Amino acid sequence: MRFRSIRGTAVTAALCVAMSAQLTQPVLAAPEKSGEPRYSAGSASVGDPYFPNQGNGGFDVQHYDIAFSYDPATKHMDATTTITALATQDMDQFNLDFQGPEISALSVGKHPADFRRDGQELIVTPRPKVKVGETFTVTVKYAGTPPVITDPDGSIEGWVPTDDGAFVAGEPQGAPSWFPGSDHPTDKATFTFHATVPEGLTAVGNGQLLSKTTKDGRTTFVWDSTEPMATYLATVTIGNFQVNETKTSAGIPVYTAVDPRLVSQSAATVARIPEIVDYLSSVFGPYPFASTGAIVDRAPNVGYALETQTKPIFSSSPSLGTMVHELAHQWYGDSVSPTRWSDIWLNEGFATYSQWLWTEHTGGITAQQTFNNSSNYGRAATSAFWQTITADPGPVDMFGSVPYNRGAMTLHALRGKVGDAVFFPLIKGWAAERKFGNASTRDFIAYAEKTSGMDLTNFFDVWIFQKGKPTTW
Ligand code: ARG
Ligand code: ZN
Repeated sequence: MRFRSIRGTAVTAALCVAMSAQLTQPVLAAPEKSGEPRYSAGSASVGDPYFPNQGNGGFDVQHYDIAFSYDPATKHMDATTTITALATQDMDQFNLDFQGPEISALSVGKHPADFRRDGQELIVTPRPKVKVGETFTVTVKYAGTPPVITDPDGSIEGWVPTDDGAFVAGEPQGAPSWFPGSDHPTDKATFTFHATVPEGLTAVGNGQLLSKTTKDGRTTFVWDSTEPMATYLATVTIGNFQVNETKTSAGIPVYTAVDPRLVSQSAATVARIPEIVDYLSSVFGPYPFASTGAIVDRAPNVGYALETQTKPIFSSSPSLGTMVHELAHQWYGDSVSPTRWSDIWLNEGFATYSQWLWTEHTGGITAQQTFNNSSNYGRAATSAFWQTITADPGPVDMFGSVPYNRGAMTLHALRGKVGDAVFFPLIKGWAAERKFGNASTRDFIAYAEKTSGMDLTNFFDVWIFQKGKPTTW
C-alpha cells in the first residue's frame, strides 16, 4: 500500500497511462483494439540492490490476512494467507516473495491459478487476467516447517523455533519464511493474524488483540494491525508468556509478553515502557500507532532485538537502552520507513540518538558527552570504523556500528549545525510529514535544508557520503 499522495499518484499514473492509451489507440493500427488492456508480467522485484529479489511490481498490497496453526512440538505450520492487492497495470503474470513450505493450493479471486516457484519468487499466472485498477485477492495454502533465514551478516531471522514456540522477526528478509507477499519496505499494508497454538501458549502479534478463543485444546489469537506496516516488521511470536496490560499516560494501550524465565531480570525495564513512550512522544511527536508494548522472548541463537511494529521483540532480557532504541524505531523505521535498504542509517541513527537523548534526560551523561566518547567521535581517525559509508554501508554492515553510531553522530552534528530551535522541530516534522510512508536519505537532506534554510551539501558529504573521520562540517 502506498499511502497518501504517493499511493494516489501510483494508481492515478497507471490509470492515466491506460486512459491515454485509450485516446490514442483509434489512430493506431491493430493488433490491439481500442481500449483493450495490454497485459504483461508484473516486475519480479523493486530493484533494491541490497536484496535484488525483494518486492514486486504490477500491484500494491493493501492487506494481508494470515491464518495458521502451529505446533511447537513438531514445528509444523498449516497456513492460509490471503493478500488483497490493487493492480497498477494489466497483468497476465505476477510474482510474490515466498520461502515457506509446500503450497497445496493457490487462487486469484475465486479461480485456482497456476504457479511455480524459483528461489524466493512465487510466480503466479492469474486466469482471468488482472486489469489495472482492479482490487484482487490471492489466497495461498501451505503447510510444513517454515525455514530459518540466514542474513549476509550471518545472523538468523524469519521463523526461528524456540524451546517453547517460535521467535518471529523479519529484518531485512525474513518475512517470506512464513508468509507470501511483497517483501520490501516500500509496500506497506495492514495485517490481520489468526494464530492457533496449543492451549497454554500465547501467540503475540502486531497491533491489537481482537479475540482469544479456546476449543479442543487449541487457542486461536486474532491480532489486528490497523496501521500500514512493512513486511519486515510483522511478527506472531509464540511461547509461554506472562502477559501484562496497562496504558501510557496518554491512554495508549501497552501489551507486554515476557517469557516467565526472564520476568525477574526484565521487569524493571518493561515497567518503564509507558514512561519511555511518553518521553519519546514529547521529543518526536505523537506516538504513531494504536497500541504499544514489547515481547521478551528467550531465543539465545538470535541475539538481537527488532522493532516489530507496536511490540518490539527481544531475544533475551533487554537493557533499558535497547528498550528505548526499539521504541524509538516506532517513529523512525516503522512509521517512517526506508525507501531503499541503503537508507538504513535513517532507522538506526535515529534509534541510537534517542538512546543518547534518553540518557541525558534521565540524568546520565549528555548527548554531547556520548558523541565525544570512544565508541563515537573519540575513535581514532585511523580506525576502520571511519571507512564504511554511512548512507551506503552494504548488506553485510547494514546492522554494524556505522549506521548506528555514525548515524547518531550525524544527527547530533546536525543539531549543532542548525541549533536546537531548528533541530527538534525538524525531527518532529519529519516524523509527521512522512508518517506511515517511506523516505530516502535524499528526502531527509531536502527536508533538513528546507527546514533550516541552509545549504547542507558539505555537511552531509562529510558525514554520510564520504569515508574518513569528519573534521569540519
Ligand atoms: N533493527 C534491529 C535493531 O536495531 C536490528 C536487526 C538486526 N537484524 C539482523 N538480521 N541482523 O534494532
Ligand atoms: Zn535499531
